[in-house]
Amino acid sequence: RASLQTQAFGRSLRYAPSTSSTNADALAYLQQLTGPATPHGTLILADCQTAGRGRRGRTWHSPAQGNIYLSVIVVPEPGSTRTGPWLSWIPLFSALAVADCLVICTGLAVSVKWPNDLLIGDKKIGGILCEQTTTADRTPAIVIGIGLNVNAAPDSFPEELRAGATTLATEAGRRLDRVTILADLLLRLEQRMDRLFHDGPSGMVDEFTRRCSTLGKTVRVAVEENGIVQGIAESIGPDGCLCLRVTSDASPASPHRLLEIRSA
Ligand code: BTN
Repeated sequence: RASLQTQAFGRSLRYAPSTSSTNADALAYLQQLTGPATPHGTLILADCQTAGRGRRGRTWHSPAQGNIYLSVIVVPEPGSTRTGPWLSWIPLFSALAVADCLVICTGLAVSVKWPNDLLIGDKKIGGILCEQTTTADRTPAIVIGIGLNVNAAPDSFPEELRAGATTLATEAGRRLDRVTILADLLLRLEQRMDRLFHDGPSGMVDEFTRRCSTLGKTVRVAVEENGIVQGIAESIGPDGCLCLRVTSDASPASPHRLLEIRSA
């Protein structure tokens, strides 16, 4: 079994066998925090969630039986003036860290669906929800929430999710050790975040692009004012947005325009 090799991530642990949502717990913890100790790297971990939160107000189905539900608090270094514009990259590089971890720990071909869904083939094995807040003394903080379908029985998923989701154990054909995955994941996540805050995003964009299975594919997205548009995912833009070559509404006046999609 691997041991924890991080500087800060996971060094402070708040574990509960069951909770409503580790992200909600992390946000609540940040609100009631006083004193000089920094919450940077604090890990909130649970074996099951009763009200797991997904992106876009969705529910994250969180049964017990060996999955991973965690949130890590990230406080960019105080005084760093460069972190602001880089915040939009956190979901993408978190997904890159998790995908790298899962490829190494399981040998499976895990990819990222922009911005931060974790897939094997076209089935979801994990998701990430990043939420931004400020601490009591107004320092910006980000909660990175990660849910991974590791060992839970696939038939514990609600009927409507079964076709689109799978678990790492199903794909690997064996039960997987969560502690090994957790230790590796925390190290990779810490390294990616440190690199982002010190060097900026540019050095990691190519790595993200290689892991991202969305690029080159035809995708349909809901765009508020235009309804649904369809296009080919062309590249990752300067703030982590998805650049889409629109094919659904091309006309002589606007032939295949490039649309920048930003995640909600
Ligand atoms: C998504 O794909 O919609 C994101 C899912 C994120 C789920 C994780 S599980 C741990 C953390 N706590 C939550 O309530 N949500 C995130």
